[in-house]
Amino acid sequence: MYTTAVIDEIRAQVRAWRAKGETVAFVPTMGNLHAGHITLVKEAKRRADHVVASIFVNPMQFGKNEDLDAYPRTLAEDQAALTEAGCELLFTPTPDIMYPKGLDAQTFVEVPGISDELCGASRPGHFRGVATIVLKLFNIVQSDMALFGRKDFQQLLVIRTMVEDLSLPIEIIGVDTVREPSGLAMSSRNGYLTADEKQRAAALKAALDTLAADIKAGSAIDAAVASANQSISAAGFKPDYMEVRSSKTLAKATDADRELVVLAAAYIGKARLIDNLVFSR
Ligand code: PAJ
Repeated sequence: MYTTAVIDEIRAQVRAWRAKGETVAFVPTMGNLHAGHITLVKEAKRRADHVVASIFVNPMQFGKNEDLDAYPRTLAEDQAALTEAGCELLFTPTPDIMYPKGLDAQTFVEVPGISDELCGASRPGHFRGVATIVLKLFNIVQSDMALFGRKDFQQLLVIRTMVEDLSLPIEIIGVDTVREPSGLAMSSRNGYLTADEKQRAAALKAALDTLAADIKAGSAIDAAVASANQSISAAGFKPDYMEVRSSKTLAKATDADRELVVLAAAYIGKARLIDNLVFSR
C-alpha cells in the first residue's frame, strides 16, 4: 500500500485507474482502525477494483472541550491492517494541508436541519466539520463510491443529503455496524474505557434491543425510552440522548411510523459512546 500526504499524488493515481476503466472505492477514517473500519475496506474491495482510504483526525469536527488531542493515533498498525484488507492507496494529510488558512477562514458546508439535532445538538458545529472534510476528501480522491458505517447513522444521513443537495457524482454505501461479542459497537473511543467500563458499556446495545422489543410488543415510545435510560444509567452511563425516530427521514416518530430507529448517546468513563438500532413494528 502506498501512503502519501500529497493531494496531487492521490489525484494522479485515481485518474490513472479510472482512465483504464477501473472503479475506485473510498473509505474515509480518522484512524486507530478496528474491525468496523476493516469491514468497510473489505466491502469496498468487493465492490470496486481499487480501494483508497484516508486517515485524518479532522480538527473541524471536534468541539473545543472534546478529545481532539487525546484521539488515538496508531499509523503503523493502521497501515498494516489496511494493506492486509486490500487497500492500495492511503491519504494521510496534516491539518496544514487540509486547512492552510486555518479552520475559521475557509469555506464550509452546512447541511441544514438534521445537523442541529441529536449529536448535532450536543456537539454544535460537528456535522459542519464532517460535511466540509468529507466534501474536500471526495474532491481530492474523486472515487466512484464511498463507504460509511451505519453506526454513525446521523453522519451517514448528513452525507447522503449533502451528496444529493450538491449533485455530487459519487455513490454512497452504508455498511452495518460491527460489534464486540458483548454487543458493544466497535469504536476507537472504546479505547478510553477501563476493562470494567467496557464490560458495563454492553448495556447500551442491550437497552436498544429491549426498547425495540418493547415497542414491537406495543409499548408507548416514551415509556420504552424511559426504561432504556434507566437501564443504561444503572450500568453507569450518563445518558445524553435516547430518541426514537423515523428511520427513513429521522423525523420524530409518530404513531403511524412503522420503520423506526432508536438512536442513543451516553457518557461512560472518559468516553461518549453512540449507537443505534433500526427496527420495524
Ligand atoms: P471514524 O470514526 O474513524 O469512522 C470511519 C468510518 O468507519 C465511518 O464511516 C464510521 O461510521 C465507520 N465505523 C466506525 N465504527 C464502526 C463499526 N463499529 N461498524 C461499522 N462501521 C464503523 O466517522 C468518521 O471517522 C469521521 O467522521 C469521518 C467520516 C472520517 C470524517 O472525518
